[in-house]
Amino acid sequence: MSKPLHVLLGVCGGIAAYKSAELARELQRQGAEVRVMMTRAAQEFIQPLTFASLTGHKVFTSLWDTSATTDSAVIEHIAEAQWADVLVIAPATAHTLAKLAHGLADDFLSAAYLASTVPVVLAPAMNVNMWNHAATRANLSVLEQRGHRIVAPGSGYLACGMTGDGRLADTETIVRAVLDQANPPRDLAGETILITAGGTREPIDPVRFLGNRSSGRMGYALAAAAERRGARVILVSAATALTPPPRCEFLPIETAEDMHAAVLYRLPEATVVIKAAAVADFRVRQVASTKLHRDAPLTLELEPTEDIVHSVVEQRRPGTLVIAFAAEMGLDVVRARQKLRGKGADAIVLNDISREGIGFDSDRNAAVFLTEEAEVRFAESSKEEIALQILDQIPALRSHHLLEQ
Ligand SMILES: Cc1cc2nc3c(=O)[nH]c(=O)nc-3n(C[C@H](O)[C@H](O)[C@H](O)COP(=O)(O)O)c2cc1C
Repeated sequence: MSKPLHVLLGVCGGIAAYKSAELARELQRQGAEVRVMMTRAAQEFIQPLTFASLTGHKVFTSLWDTSATTDSAVIEHIAEAQWADVLVIAPATAHTLAKLAHGLADDFLSAAYLASTVPVVLAPAMNVNMWNHAATRANLSVLEQRGHRIVAPGSGYLACGMTGDGRLADTETIVRAVLDQANPPRDLAGETILITAGGTREPIDPVRFLGNRSSGRMGYALAAAAERRGARVILVSAATALTPPPRCEFLPIETAEDMHAAVLYRLPEATVVIKAAAVADFRVRQVASTKLHRDAPLTLELEPTEDIVHSVVEQRRPGTLVIAFAAEMGLDVVRARQKLRGKGADAIVLNDISREGIGFDSDRNAAVFLTEEAEVRFAESSKEEIALQILDQIPALRSHHLLEQ
């Protein structure tokens, strides 16, 4: 029998600490052996006894407590770091994220983190302003760059009384991230996936542009997940506030025309193209060469931009799959399927941008994955989770494509 997955679960001092008990339980249900370490603040919210009872193991709360160690030569935070196959910190507080980003190691959890070399999953939960704070953003970006998996919090009513992003992700999403990070399926090895992301900018004059509210998060989540699953990833991205995922080839562009050119240039290498970018449908016909002044009313004449999906479908090599995205007000499957047919893509991911808290400029999404024959609904969850579900469709899409040829 193979050894169970060793999960070292770190619990920090946030309201969501009580949800970690359910997380420990669910990881065990999935066959993992779980050990828990808690910060001092976490113990203000939940007793170590809860985790000790659930896991049948001592809970690590201090660097200086060696009471349960029979062998005094054992340095527990090092031993536990070596025992683990994967480290998950849930909830991860803003404070602990800052410590991890800076390599501080003044308690058991942070010292074990530094002493570990295994994959790391971080599930932050906090007040919306703490989550949006530049310090937290910068720390997350550092941790993401290190290859750690950030399970983005959900949006909604928070314990602090405010509404917004910051609620700990669902237990199932965290569990899946842990299993995936510990042992990612390499089912996309051999694929070269060309992904577009972000919202293009169409210049009006040297300082202004026509843009849209796309954050780029869906495309970046797809890129990170595809890379982990063994694909070579080329990410063509319009401006975003995001850090490109590690080990992806990154091509920053600005306008729809740039994106069209970059995608067609790299298309011969691609076995799959995923068009998650929000590309402008129109550009300004005559871009002013100097900054426009407010002296008189201004009329801008717009002209249509290139249809990138159309060009990709026309110029792709046989066997290259094309997955388009459609952002619509409402989930009109009939209309989306017409679009799918019209564009000649293999699949289209339909997003409802009229729903509050998902889609554009949000960490969460819900979508329908449509092919000519099938319709798969992805319930609302993090964009990381939706990305995994989209990638799950590729093998079936590939076999269908082969049958059709
Ligand atoms: C009632 C209460 C709730 C809190 N909830 C959170 C939270 O959800 N997320 C967070 O980052 N900090 C939260 N804090 C602040 C942290 O507990 C505090 O920053 C602490 O130093 C975190 O320590 P740790 O990261 O070592 O666990 C909360 C504090 C209090 C008093």
